[in-house]
Amino acid sequence: MEQRLLNLVAERISERGHLRGKTIAWNCHLTSLTEWAAAALLRSGCRLIMTECNSSTSDAAAIRAMENLGISIYLGESGRHQALAASTPDVISDTGLELITVWMQINGLGSQKSDRQASASPGGTAATAKIPSGGCEITTSGIMRLRRLNSLPFPILNINNGRIKSTIENFHGVGQGVVEAYNILSQSSPVGKQACVVGYGNVGAGVAHYLQKSGMHVSVVDADPVRCLAAHYDGFALTTIKDGLSRCDLFVTATGKIGLLRKEDWIHANDGVLVINVGHNKEELALDHLKEISNRCLTISDHLVEYEISSPGSLSRRIRIATDGNPANVVLLTGSPEPTILHLATEILCIEHIAAYSSSLDSRELPVPFLVEKEVAELALEALGLSGCAHSEPDSG
Ligand SMILES: NC(=O)c1ccc[n+]([C@@H]2O[C@H](COP(=O)([O-])OP(=O)(O)OC[C@H]3O[C@@H](n4cnc5c(N)ncnc54)[C@H](O)[C@@H]3O)[C@@H](O)[C@H]2O)c1
Repeated sequence: MEQRLLNLVAERISERGHLRGKTIAWNCHLTSLTEWAAAALLRSGCRLIMTECNSSTSDAAAIRAMENLGISIYLGESGRHQALAASTPDVISDTGLELITVWMQINGLGSQKSDRQASASPGGTAATAKIPSGGCEITTSGIMRLRRLNSLPFPILNINNGRIKSTIENFHGVGQGVVEAYNILSQSSPVGKQACVVGYGNVGAGVAHYLQKSGMHVSVVDADPVRCLAAHYDGFALTTIKDGLSRCDLFVTATGKIGLLRKEDWIHANDGVLVINVGHNKEELALDHLKEISNRCLTISDHLVEYEISSPGSLSRRIRIATDGNPANVVLLTGSPEPTILHLATEILCIEHIAAYSSSLDSRELPVPFLVEKEVAELALEALGLSGCAHSEPDSG
């Protein structure tokens, strides 16, 4: 399905020609799946510049293959500056708003909402900058950053909150990926084990559902009472970080909040607990706090490190951290590639939409156009051999 869908997308963008001669700067996970998507995007006749959003998820073979396709790739945080110094992109597609933030910094923009200076010149842009037609953002964390800014220099499509990304990739893709990651990392059956999931957005909810389907007993933590209520009616026990961490075999974080765990949380961890983060930021686990209180650190495998802690009056406990706190499903490439390819297909058509229609778009956060998601869904159904299954024409609003 994956290659068929990307082929269909490549045919459409190549026929329409909106991207021919355009420069696209793309900050993303540099994996084999992005390599397929990049190859499809290139068939539109665009020039592609790529940067890595997380060095831990970058795959050297995929990077080499993309370079062989003629893509300029810049690594590391400084790579984002280098990429923008070397090119003037027409569209910036981002993961975590990292590349757009650098573009804004270079051009003297980017004040946050509380900044008085910025409100004095809302929407102001550097006189010399060539302003991209627009951008895209695919993550919750990037959208949260974007909403803290006073103004945006160009339109930015919020792919994360689109129906395809939020309901298929975030829920099913990550959920399935965590079950597979657990199997690889624990080398034991999930059946009958206790799991605790922190964060009950689409990502955490998917993880909770998939872990439950795998046979685990799942409890949920969320700071938002509405999300707690939703988890309750979905049939999950509610708990706190401290209680959840002290009882479970698997602890999953899915909040996107930097510094979620504190020293006083780690001290209560169950002996042998496996901790997996799927939130965008590796800093969600605040591993520095764990390192400070641990008296031993043992590398179990490439993707698993065990810390031992002891507190006065209690036995020592071992805590296993997956993929150094980086999103484990992305690092281990677990879960079906289909949900990821669906979001990449959406991202490609959003990039095309920006290039084609930017003059009619306002410089603000915008939803994924209805027709973009409709086209991706129709092409995906075709790739799955399910064309003709969507019978009625929904109201486009
Ligand atoms: N690993 C992946 O492949 C992947 C895919 C998509 C998104 N993400 C990332 O996953 C994270 C979650 O995404 P989402 O769309 O579900 O976000 P969301 O904002 O909808 O949900 C996050 C939830 O965490 C809760 N939360 C925040 N701080 C908390 C705290 N201190 N204690 C308890 N709960 C807290 C919030 O109330 C919210 O319900 C984001 O960082 C996102 O970028 C990862």
